[in-house]
Formats: sequence, C-alpha cells, structure tokens
Amino acid sequence: MGRPSDVLATTATKIGAPTGTDLLYQDRVNPQWVRLLDVLQMNARYTRCEGTELFTEDGRRILDFLSGYCVHNLGHNHPAIVDALKDELDRRGPAMLQSHVPGLAGELADKLCWRAGGRVNKVFFCSSGSEGVEAAIKFSRAHTHRNGMLYAEGAFHGLTCGALSLMGDPFWRESFGPMLPETESVPYANLEALERKLSTRRFAAFIVEPVQGEGGVRVPPPAYLEMAQALCRRYGTLFVADEVQTGMYRTGRFLASHHFNVEPDMVILAKALSGGLIPSAAVLMSDEVYESVYGSLGRAIVHTSTYSENSLAMRAGLAAIDALERERLGDRALAAGDFLRTRLRAALSGYEMVREVRGLGLLNGIEFQTPHKLALRAPFEAFAKIHPGMFGQVVVMRLFRQGFVTQMCGNNFMVLKVSPPLIVNEREADAFVDAVAEVVEMMHCSGTFWSEALGLAQRAILK
Ligand SMILES: Cc1ncc(COP(=O)(O)O)c(C=O)c1O
Repeated sequence: MGRPSDVLATTATKIGAPTGTDLLYQDRVNPQWVRLLDVLQMNARYTRCEGTELFTEDGRRILDFLSGYCVHNLGHNHPAIVDALKDELDRRGPAMLQSHVPGLAGELADKLCWRAGGRVNKVFFCSSGSEGVEAAIKFSRAHTHRNGMLYAEGAFHGLTCGALSLMGDPFWRESFGPMLPETESVPYANLEALERKLSTRRFAAFIVEPVQGEGGVRVPPPAYLEMAQALCRRYGTLFVADEVQTGMYRTGRFLASHHFNVEPDMVILAKALSGGLIPSAAVLMSDEVYESVYGSLGRAIVHTSTYSENSLAMRAGLAAIDALERERLGDRALAAGDFLRTRLRAALSGYEMVREVRGLGLLNGIEFQTPHKLALRAPFEAFAKIHPGMFGQVVVMRLFRQGFVTQMCGNNFMVLKVSPPLIVNEREADAFVDAVAEVVEMMHCSGTFWSEALGLAQRAILK
C-alpha cells in the first residue's frame, strides 16, 4: 500500500484514470465497495446533482430512481435546504455547546409531533436510523421492564448491534454475533403468530415498518397494523413504527402509519428528515414512555448523543418540512405513485418473469419471479446458483446504462425498488417505464441479457 502522495503522483500521469481522491478512497476507506461498483459498471464520477438529475464527468445525465434509499424526498441539493444550512452557518449561533437549551430542536420537535399526531408528544433526536432504533429498544425496556423485542421477518432496522438483532437475514449478521438476547421474529402480516408471541407477555416492543422497504416493498393488508397495535395494547407491549424510509411524505402522508389508522407509542424518523444533506434522526414517543426514561432530574441526560440536537440538522429538518409542504409533495407522491404503478403494470403485463408491481405513494417495487419456460428457467437458475442477487444486479446494471440509478431491495433480491424523489415529473416517470419495459423485454426475448450476467460473473471472479 503506497503513501497518499505516491497515489496522487501516479494518478496525475494517467488519462481517464480515477482521480487522486478516488484512489485515496480505494486505498483508505473501502476498496471492496469500489470493486463492486466497477464490477457492476456503475462507478460513475458525479459532478453535480440537482433534483432528480445526476450529471457525470463524462457528460451523462442520469435520473435517480432510488433517492439514496428514501433520503432524497426533496430531490438532491434542494435550494431551501442549502440556503437554510448556509444561513445557519452565517448566523454563527451556538453549535455543540452542550450547555444550553437548543431552541431549534424544540421547534422541530413541535412540528414533528403535531404532524405525527396520536400519542406522541416528545422527541429524542439522534443522527441515524439505527441510533433511533437503539433508543427505541432502550426506551421500551425502561417503560415495560421487559427485555424481549419482537420484529417482523424481512425487516430492515439498521446495522448497529441492537438494530441488527431485529433483522433475521444471516447475510447481515454473519460474524457479528452474538446478537441481543430475547429478540424474536414473527412472519410479517400474520396476526395469529404475533398474538402467540405477545401473549407470553415477554416483549417490551413490537417494531415494524408500516410498509416493509428492504423486505420487498410489502404493503400490509388494510387491517393488519391496526389489529397488531390492538394486540400490543392488550398484552402490554409497545407498538413502534420504524418510519425511517416511509416517513416524511414518502408514501403520500406525513407518516405511512397515517394510511393505516394506527397511533404508535414510538415513531422513528431519519433519512429524509433533514433534507438529504446532513444526518439526523428522531424518535417520537408518548409522554408515558418519556417519563419512564427521563422521569427525574437525575435522569435528565441518561440517554444522549453528541450531535443529536445540532443546529444544522435542526435547521435542515425545519426547512425540509417547510419545503415538502409548500410544494405539496405528499399529494404529488400519491398522484405520481398511482401514475407510475398504472404505467408500469400496463407496460409489464404479460411478461412471465414479472410477478407484481406494488407500492404506496412513491415507495414502489417491481417483483420478479422464476420463469416457467425452460429456455428462460435454465439461465435464470444457473445464475441464481452463482449468486442469488445476480439476476437483480443485471437489471440494475442495464437500467443504469439506460440512465437510471435503481437498486434491488436489500432483503429481497427479486424486488426492484422504484422510489424516485417526490418531485419526479411525468416525463421522467414515462422515461423510466420505457427503460424498464425495454430491460424486461430483453430478459424474455434476447440472449444479450443473460450473456450480460455471464460477463458480470466473470468480472466478479477476475476483479
Ligand atoms: C426501515 C429502516 N430502519 C432503519 C434503518 C437504519 O438507518 P441508518 O442507515 O440511518 O442507520 C434503515 C436503513 O436503511 C431502514 O431502511
């Protein structure tokens, strides 16, 4: 491994080679990530990102249909967020003083609680979704004096140790054990299984994504969440909504919970909360939960996080809510989601490898399935044997070549996530549908799609 100056010197002489900082990233941060992007032929160098558009050094314009996993509800670098951050810096106000009352946090907490409604009345701020989940684990234990945590199969709640203990997929867990004890799963949308577990009265909380994101964009049956909440109440278990992906109008309402008539005891927000430029997360909770954690003077700082109420994140959060509502992006998400799903269903109907197009607002998924016809099944199964994610990555690679950033769901390699910024327009949605239709036509009718998979497999081995 060379020293930084050696690396920079080498790049200076190469035309079209990675820049010095890219090489330093490769050298010092995560070489395997660079390798993976190279294998997928997605290692573009972005120079400017605005709204739904990403511009690359080699002159390409790419549309973002992933939104950084539901971070960019407002699109990239929204002027209102950029201006709010610049203003806050220019103000030279208290930041990280840790010895004052940060009023901006109060203002943001008030706005969040009013919009969330229901039981929540207090907010704990932190800096990531996982950190929010960790807080929810601690708070629900403190409130119920129980240790158990219940989660749904297929869930994604984050990769810190506690949050990871609430995710069953061995891919994420391998070599990081042991997990937190007394964490158990139930099948998603199965009330009988849920009641069996809850009736043991061992569980402090049931944590659930109102629409499962990485599990495959699974929208629950209409009554599931309401019934699950009622069961939780019956057995003294807190009902916790992980709205890290679904919150901030992603599904058309401020919270996805609002579609399902539930009033969670805790709600976790992150990702789009602060407009896509600065980390922030929030755990909204009832007064009763707050009291059981911070209930006396001596416990005022019993759970904190250094950057939690920092003024930049708070200003960005206020600006994000304001911009989302001024631009009526909830309504737009509902309308654009309907439009996208209708167009996708029409374009993809009749293809045997497309199982379903589903979603809520602008959190959507296209589920693929194993083909029946032998001519398709043989290559499909062969590549699935090499790696179960191979098929999906060829889809993602093809779409990237056509000018779209997408990804398969992290816990379900057969579902392509379709979650553009909420500002996406019909022209962009139409272009996306055309691109997906072309890729799907190709996977059914041309050997090129499958030879691409072969190329991908070879690059993965040789790289
Ligand atoms: C539903 C959900 N919860 C929690 C998390 C963890 O958030 P973070 O990556 O900010 O820690 C994620 C991340 O993708 C998520 O999708």
